[in-house]
Amino acid sequence: MGFKVAVVGATGNVGREMLDILAERQFPIAEIIALASSRSLGTEVSFGDKTLKCKALDNYDFSGTDICLMSAGGAVSKEWSPKIARQGCVVIDNSSAWRYDQDVPLIVPEVNADAIAGFAKKNIIANPNCSTAQLVVALKPLHDKAKITRVVVSTYQSVSGAGKEAMDALFAETRAIFVSDAVESKKFPKRIAFNVIPEIDVFMEDGYTKEEWKMMAETKKILDPKIKLSATCVRVPVFIGHSEAVNIEFENPISADEARDILREAPGCLVIDKREPGGYITPHEAAGEDATYISRIREDPTVDNGLVLWVVADNLRKGAALNAVQIAEVLINRKLISPKQKAA
Ligand SMILES: NC(=O)c1ccc[n+]([C@@H]2O[C@H](COP(=O)([O-])OP(=O)(O)OC[C@H]3O[C@@H](n4cnc5c(N)ncnc54)[C@H](OP(=O)(O)O)[C@@H]3O)[C@@H](O)[C@H]2O)c1
Repeated sequence: MGFKVAVVGATGNVGREMLDILAERQFPIAEIIALASSRSLGTEVSFGDKTLKCKALDNYDFSGTDICLMSAGGAVSKEWSPKIARQGCVVIDNSSAWRYDQDVPLIVPEVNADAIAGFAKKNIIANPNCSTAQLVVALKPLHDKAKITRVVVSTYQSVSGAGKEAMDALFAETRAIFVSDAVESKKFPKRIAFNVIPEIDVFMEDGYTKEEWKMMAETKKILDPKIKLSATCVRVPVFIGHSEAVNIEFENPISADEARDILREAPGCLVIDKREPGGYITPHEAAGEDATYISRIREDPTVDNGLVLWVVADNLRKGAALNAVQIAEVLINRKLISPKQKAA
């Protein structure tokens, strides 16, 4: 049994990763279609050992397609996801356009796969923000054990989280500094090379940025509306891999040793936590990997029941493409969809 799958945004950072992950995981595919804007008509992208030529989203008929992995930004998704969904194709969307819609499940399969049940209301399922995805994978097993009441998180987010142009900007700025050219910051509000920027997405009225607000709203929707969360989101000059320093307060006691044992068994988590020089994970090591890595697990002596963690994952994989493919796998494994075109 194979499905007809379309990837929208196939020339982008996330779209290319989606094609790689579908091929790597031997997703049951009858036919795969790469879509992007009309600018990319005919552009070649890889799918396993095959090459696909991109088609334009504008001219594509979704009526025979089963699953659309959508990764072309919020504006494109707002316009196109409902149209695609109405043609009977399930949309798994990577943008923030549908995440806060009460008729759209927001899913991280290791955390709240059961919430997928209501997807048919709009035929759209949302993928969380990259920083939220890795955070909730680490929080869920600890919440089950000792009930989280409050989280304070500081992020160290790579430039690939802002798209392919942002990766080019870090490269161009770094090169300009080495050859003593003028540094032009075209993509970020300040220079990103050899710098860090505490501004991701727009500012909101209360002084938080939208990225920080997303972490709060999405953690509540995915994990538990009672959890209070305050985030500071920072862009750092790393190409791939988001890191997070996370302070967690619990209703009930939990020791660092207990947390380490729980996280070692938890789905999607990989604990690398040796209390010695280099005994932790950095984004460079997490790039290209599927796991959410957890290091530096320790008790927080400044609160009653508190832990501190260092959480790292590949933002293009667990933060985006991998999570979207895992959602599609949940749909198939739970028999929530079947291929429109039966095999001959
Ligand atoms: N990067 C991450 O870590 C991450 C994590 C979670 C969610 N996301 C979300 O995923 C989405 C894509 O991110 P990205 O990093 O892959 O961005 P990107 O590298 O800038 O790629 C954008 C993709 O969207 C396509 N596109 C743009 N306008 C289009 C249109 N009018 N019609 C059809 N296709 C269009 C582009 O095609 P052309 O090449 O033809 O322009 C390209 O394939 C965004 O919504 C982002 O917020 C990203």
